Amino acid sequence: MVITRRRLVQILSGLTMASMTGVGRAQFWFAPSLTYPALKVGNTRNLQNNQPVYFNYPDSRAQGLLVKLGRPALLGVGSGRDIVAFSASCTHMGCGVQYKGGRMVCPCHFSMYDPAKAAQVYQGLASTSLPQIQLRIQANGDIFANAVNGLIWGRAKNI
Ligand code: FES
Repeated sequence: MVITRRRLVQILSGLTMASMTGVGRAQFWFAPSLTYPALKVGNTRNLQNNQPVYFNYPDSRAQGLLVKLGRPALLGVGSGRDIVAFSASCTHMGCGVQYKGGRMVCPCHFSMYDPAKAAQVYQGLASTSLPQIQLRIQANGDIFANAVNGLIWGRAKNI
C-alpha cells in the first residue's frame, strides 16, 4: 500500500487533533480515502461564510454539504483553509444533516458534528464522524470534489 504525501498529512493531522482533544473518536480520520471522478460543487466567489451549499457526490443519491466556515478547519481548502465538505447522511441512522450556526446537526435524534474538526461527533447517538469529502480548488475558484474519506452511511460501497 502506497501512502501519498497528502494522506500522510491527513493522518498526522488526525493524530495531532486526537492528542489535543484526548477524544477516542479519532478513528474516523484513518478512514480510507476513496477517489471518485471529480465533480464541480461550487466556486469560491459564490460562497458566503456559514451559508451551506448542498450537492450530490459521489453519485446522485449521496447528498453532500459544502460550507465556508470563516475559520480554519481540518482538511479545509481555500486561502483561509476554511472550506470543507461532508456527506450529509448522519452516521447514526442516515437522516439528512443540516448546517446551523457553525455546527452540523441531525434533526432526527440531534447528533451534532463539528465541521472544523473533520465532522467529529460531539453530542448525540452517532458514534463516528461524517465522511469528509476532499476538495480541490482551481485558479478560477472552481471547487471540485474528488474523494470521500470513509464510507457513506448505509452503503457497502460508496458507489
Ligand atoms: S439519525 Fe441522526 S442522530 Fe439518529
